[in-house]
Amino acid sequence: MNVHEYQGKEILRKYGVATPRGAACFSVDEAVKAAEQLGGKVWVVKAQIHAGGRGKGGGVKVAKSAGEVGLYANQILGMTLRTHQTGPEGRLVKRLLVEEGADIRKEYYVGMVVDRATQPAWKSRKSPPIIRRRSTKWQSTR
Ligand SMILES: Nc1ncnc2c1ncn2[C@@H]1O[C@H](COP(=O)(O)OP(=O)(O)OP(=O)(O)O)[C@@H](O)[C@H]1O
Ligand SMILES: [Mg+2]
Repeated sequence: MNVHEYQGKEILRKYGVATPRGAACFSVDEAVKAAEQLGGKVWVVKAQIHAGGRGKGGGVKVAKSAGEVGLYANQILGMTLRTHQTGPEGRLVKRLLVEEGADIRKEYYVGMVVDRATQPAWKSRKSPPIIRRRSTKWQSTR
């Protein structure tokens, strides 16, 4: 299953998880309008591709004015983003997430995978899906 960041955040929001407000955008115009609608002074323009490492690859930019949002949206939309997860061919960026900037004190990484082997048991028992933590890496990036 491939889910973009903005789609994942919509799902999390539905279940009450605190997430930054944001909007999926397909053009520079939409990106600028989204920033104006979100309000505030800092926005993050984020390439939506099915791969991580976008920030390090130039696909995530912090903007401090609506003009900068437009500038970065123009740079990122249509670029072929190469990260350690895309392979050398990269991915063409066709959509963006413009979201409110967060004042980050510490960043943590948590990974979870669904155990495909036990999923049939869940279906037959009608109990919630089992999510096993194969590896949980707590890592401060600052
Ligand atoms: N809403 C936000 N407000 C402030 N900073 C942000 C926001 N979203 C992302 N960032 C910053 O941009 C960085 C890259 O974004 P993110 O981690 O979501 O993308 P990534 O694909 O995992 O890229 P990387 O591997 O470079 O972290 C984050 O580590 C964070 O520092
Ligand atoms: Mg990251």
